[in-house]
Amino acid sequence: MIPATMKKFFLPILVLFLFIQCKNQPAIPTGLVVEKAMVVSAREEASKVGADIMANGGNAFDAMVGTQLALAVAYPRAGNIGGGGFMVYREADGAIGSLDFREKAPKSAHRDMYLDSLGSVIINMSTLGATSVGVPGSVAGILEVHKKFGKLPLAAIFEPVITMAENGVVVTAKQADMLAQYREVFTEVNSDSTKFGAVYKEGDIITYPKLAATLRTIVEKGKDGFYKGEIAQKLANFIQKNGGFVTEDDLASYDVVWRKPIAFNYKGLKIISMSPPSSGGVTMNQIFDMIAPFDIGTFGHNSEKTIQVFTEASRRAYADRNYYLGDPDFVDIPLDVLLKDSYLEDRMTDFSFDKATKSSDVSHGKVEIVESMETTHYSIVDEEGNAVSVTTTLNGNFGSKLYCDELGFFLNNEMDDFSSKAGVPNMFGLIGAEANNIQPEKRMLSSMTPTIVEKEGELWMVVGTPGGSTIITAVAQTILNAYEFDMSMQDAVNAPRFHHQWLPDIVTFEPEGFSTELKTSLKAKGYFINEERTPIIGKVDAIRVLADGSLEGGADKRGDDMAVGF
Ligand code: DON
Repeated sequence: MIPATMKKFFLPILVLFLFIQCKNQPAIPTGLVVEKAMVVSAREEASKVGADIMANGGNAFDAMVGTQLALAVAYPRAGNIGGGGFMVYREADGAIGSLDFREKAPKSAHRDMYLDSLGSVIINMSTLGATSVGVPGSVAGILEVHKKFGKLPLAAIFEPVITMAENGVVVTAKQADMLAQYREVFTEVNSDSTKFGAVYKEGDIITYPKLAATLRTIVEKGKDGFYKGEIAQKLANFIQKNGGFVTEDDLASYDVVWRKPIAFNYKGLKIISMSPPSSGGVTMNQIFDMIAPFDIGTFGHNSEKTIQVFTEASRRAYADRNYYLGDPDFVDIPLDVLLKDSYLEDRMTDFSFDKATKSSDVSHGKVEIVESMETTHYSIVDEEGNAVSVTTTLNGNFGSKLYCDELGFFLNNEMDDFSSKAGVPNMFGLIGAEANNIQPEKRMLSSMTPTIVEKEGELWMVVGTPGGSTIITAVAQTILNAYEFDMSMQDAVNAPRFHHQWLPDIVTFEPEGFSTELKTSLKAKGYFINEERTPIIGKVDAIRVLADGSLEGGADKRGDDMAVGF
């Protein structure tokens, strides 16, 4: 028998000991676990193409080429050859880098191109149809990756995708809903006879013979097969016939840029993410630095205190994002200051757990988010330990909705990611400034955050998501879920998310996982909560390397996303 006094003394110590033990235990995987190689993407068909490429001797970079193309076929709302994106990589030996294959403004573009004679933003001009199209970068991106890192011949990577395009892809329930939702606008922007003017039901098979032919030309002729010659001519004519600005000369001049990623430490992690013209790496770096002094692991997942710290850091980081960030080839970004510890410490000195900071005290403006959109992310790890993290986009769902029937793909509406007019929000409610104004051949600021995380110097996680302005917070929360709250990869991806982006000054919560009491308490502290809109936030696709070297996938339950590997 243990005396009562001893019990009183030892029990709390035992509980604390068990808690610490539990916290140090690696989370039990709940997602797919494989030994060697894995792809997690928005569609099973695309993940399988990438995984098969690796099973046939290709590396993660070959798999990236195949997955990007397969998504263009199987997931046309965001997968693309008519858009652009960013890739962050970490080679097996630890070397890191990133590729910018973001779209560019056409040469005829200018600062006020979306304004009327009174200086007001012309509705839809930067979001819908040919006028919103930026010069696509995806084809140049994958070919450059293959040139630098590819192992398999390009034809061997393209062939399964071309076959998929010819044989067709099954329409999922979610896809059927999405196509139905946009059918009318497809015919308005294109014509009644456009491919996506037809009705597609769940279980139907859509074939893409024209896209297959375009892919054949690319594999035969390389970059020039898309950016010069017959395809470029057809594409430029098509865009201009529909009132847009992209010319053959714009296509011929397009090139990608290898950039140094943003890399920073958060407690025991090294986080590697995309540098400008994406805001992802810089903004995430700022958020993590501002929350690092708080032990949010003990505050609890999605607890009031965790939400407050994260929200206040995001508020301050997005205010900087919108003011300072743009294409580094055109604007000087004061990164040395923005990422300095003392600067970030300073930014948080007015934070208090008792009361929300007002965004108007950080800066000012009034905006509304009007539409929800789509991008896509895929994560890849190969047998050698190379890791590839890619986020790619058409910007809105099906981009500009302009579909080139002759060549078989949708075109982006990425021009809306520029600031059409300083102080006027874009479709994500993001307020832009001079740094992100429109200039010929400039790249529009992005929020895409393809990320790779090291723990103790080893590859630990590959992660990213779509979600417009919410991308950065969704990626950061997924990393925190795994690191601070000991969740498995799959649970970290599925966990409920919230978002704040400085302006509008509101916290948005996903529909599930946040109690009324929590929201009431936050409101009492002065937080504005978006009660009408509780959208899903991001669709994260991630991979974690487990202690024994095997891989756990995190394929977001919010979509048709799937991990495939071996
Ligand atoms: O580059 C960007 O930040 C946007 N064009 C991304 C769009 C997006 O994520 C839409 N998805 N939900």
